[in-house]
Amino acid sequence: MSSDMEIHKRTAARQAADMVKSGMVVGLGTGSTATYMIERLGERITEGLHIVGIPTSEDSARKAKKAGIPLTDFAAHRRLDIAIDGADEVQRGPLHLIKGLGGALLREKIVAQAAKKFVVIVDGSKPVDHLGERAPIPVEVISFGWECTAERLSACGAKGVKPRTDRDGNLFVSDNGNMILDCTFGPIEDPEELARQIDAIVGVVEHGMFLNMASEVLVATEQGVERWEP
Ligand code: 5RP
Repeated sequence: MSSDMEIHKRTAARQAADMVKSGMVVGLGTGSTATYMIERLGERITEGLHIVGIPTSEDSARKAKKAGIPLTDFAAHRRLDIAIDGADEVQRGPLHLIKGLGGALLREKIVAQAAKKFVVIVDGSKPVDHLGERAPIPVEVISFGWECTAERLSACGAKGVKPRTDRDGNLFVSDNGNMILDCTFGPIEDPEELARQIDAIVGVVEHGMFLNMASEVLVATEQGVERWEP
């Protein structure tokens, strides 16, 4: 990854973190871009910001604790004021997203859905004309019968369905104890229809298409930060 890309991720992340105000319940995304946002919130806490966070993964929970962000949960707060997270692809217009290459899509979607405002932070490599252009759709499935679930995903048009593995080649296990199948579709013409088909498969817990959920997307490039709204 080029260092320019890291600078852009960090720029978008810090700008989003600076939208957070004292008293807010904040959804803390997962991934390299979200990590910059967590670090910036940590800095702001040392300057007097008072917030509580709900992390979208065990990894983000660890990073938030290290940054000094007090954590809470849905037992205490059903609604979040804001959630800030990265994405793997962003489609301009409706701001449809693919998320989950970091493996946290289920908790990320629960947190995004509970947030009054869902802010997405990306560098210039993430915008696409059609979802699926570059990234596979990660689908979280229960491990029981995953081979059947994979066949059903192929029947929805996936050209490739690959069980995700970790660095050691073992099957990846999500924070929720599930598997992830990375499904390559290529450019998707009708994401809503595909989402309906995937949602109807028994064994699918959740898929990584976030449709009509983002309130705004901050895209950082060489030219500065563009703010997209649906
Ligand atoms: C994790 C995600 C991440 O937000 C997504 O993969 C983007 O990650 P990064 O900021 O590292 O490019 O959805 O499940």
